[in-house]
Amino acid sequence: MTDTRTLNLAVIAGDGIGPEVVAQAERVLDAVADLEGFTIDKTPYSLGAEHWLQTGETLSDETLARLKEHDAILFGAVGADPRSAEIPSGIIEREVLLKLRFAFDHYINLRPARFYPGAVSPLSHPGEIDFIVVREGTEGPYAGNGGVLRAGTEHEVATEVSLNTALGVERLIRYAFQLASTRERKKLALIHKTNVLVNAGQLYSRIFEEIAAEYPEVHTDYCHIDAATIYLTNDPQRFDVIVTDNLFGDIITDQAGAITGGIGLAPCGNINASGEFPSMFEPVHGSAPDIAGQNKANPIAAVLAGALLLRHVGLPAAAQRIEDAVEHVMASTPQTDLGTDEVGQAIIDRLT
Ligand code: NAD
Ligand code: IPM
Ligand code: MN
Repeated sequence: MTDTRTLNLAVIAGDGIGPEVVAQAERVLDAVADLEGFTIDKTPYSLGAEHWLQTGETLSDETLARLKEHDAILFGAVGADPRSAEIPSGIIEREVLLKLRFAFDHYINLRPARFYPGAVSPLSHPGEIDFIVVREGTEGPYAGNGGVLRAGTEHEVATEVSLNTALGVERLIRYAFQLASTRERKKLALIHKTNVLVNAGQLYSRIFEEIAAEYPEVHTDYCHIDAATIYLTNDPQRFDVIVTDNLFGDIITDQAGAITGGIGLAPCGNINASGEFPSMFEPVHGSAPDIAGQNKANPIAAVLAGALLLRHVGLPAAAQRIEDAVEHVMASTPQTDLGTDEVGQAIIDRLT
C-alpha cells in the first residue's frame, strides 16, 4: 500500500557519532519513502555540545517552538566525552535532551531489545531474546528536583529527589499493559526496588496491581532492579514487556543492548502518547567520543529508530521494510567487516 503524504521531520544529529549514524538513518528513510510513495521533508537543527561551544545556545524557547511544529523528531546523540572537562557533565544532557523529553512530555521511553540472528552476544547461550522496555521518561530522579546547599563547606548537601506522580505512574503502567496485551506472550514485568525505595515502590506496585485487574489476560511478574540484572544476563527469555522507572530503565537498556549484540543496535522512542507534542526517536547510545570520526559506529540503532518513527506516525509497512532489511543484513554480513556507511548501504540494498 502506498501513502502519498508528506512527513515533516526535524533532524537533530548532535555530537560525536550522532551525525554519522543519523546520516545513514536519513538515507534509509529516504529510500523507503521512495519505495512506499511518501515524501519526507527534513529540517536539520544544530544542537548539542559543539553547537553550545560555538553559539552559547543549549536549546532556546524559539528553537523549541519550531521543533514543536514537526510531525516527529529524529535525534542522534548529544554530549561531550565524559573524561573531558571542557564541558561540565550534565549541561548538554539536561538542557538539550532532557529539556526536549520534558517539554514535549515524552512520558513513554520505549526501548525494544531484540537479538537478531547474526548478532554476536557476549552470552554463551543467548537463545531468542525479544523484549521491550517501557521506561518512564519524565519523572524519577531525572525530574530535576534537588540542589546543593552549603556548597564548598564540609557540610555540603547534594540532593536528587526522585519524583513520582500518580498520574505519571498510571499512564506509564497503563501503556505497558496495553502493549503487553497485544504481544504473543502477553507478559509484563514490573522492575523496581520496592524493598528500599518504599514510597515510590508502593505507588508503582499499587497502580500495577490495580491496572492488572483490567488486563486478566496479561501474565504479571515483578523483580527488584538488582536481581533483574541477573535475570537479564542468565535468563533474558523471562522478559516480554518490562515497565520501570526512569533511572532503572536507563541502566537496564544499556545492558539489554549489550546482551543483544551491542548498544549500536538498540533503538529508542521518546513517545508523547497523547499526541499533543511530536515524539522523538533516537539510538539508546550516546555520542561515543571514543569512536567518533572513524566510520566505526554501527548505524543500525539509528536506522531502527527511524523504523520506530515510521510506525509511530502511521506508516507500519515502511517501518516493516526497514526492520526486515536490517534482519537480512544482520543474518548475512558480519558486522565487524563493515563501516558505518557500508552498513547503511547494505540496508538500502535489501529494502525491497
Ligand atoms: P556511549 O553510549 O556514547 O558509549 C558507550 C560505549 O558504547 C562506547 O564504548 C562507545 O564506543 C560504544 N558505542 C556507542 N554507540 C555505538 C555504536 N553506534 N556503534 C558501536 N559502538 C558504540 O556512552 P558514554 O560514553 O557514556 O557517553 C558519551 C556522551 O554521550 C556523554 O556526553 C553522555 O552524556 C552522552 N549520552 C548521550 C545520549 C543521547 O544523546 N541520547 C545517550 C547516552 C549518553
Ligand atoms: C539515554 C541517556 C540519557 C538518559 C542521558 C544522556 C540524559 O543515557 O538516553 O539513555 O539518561 O536518559
Ligand atoms: Mn542511557
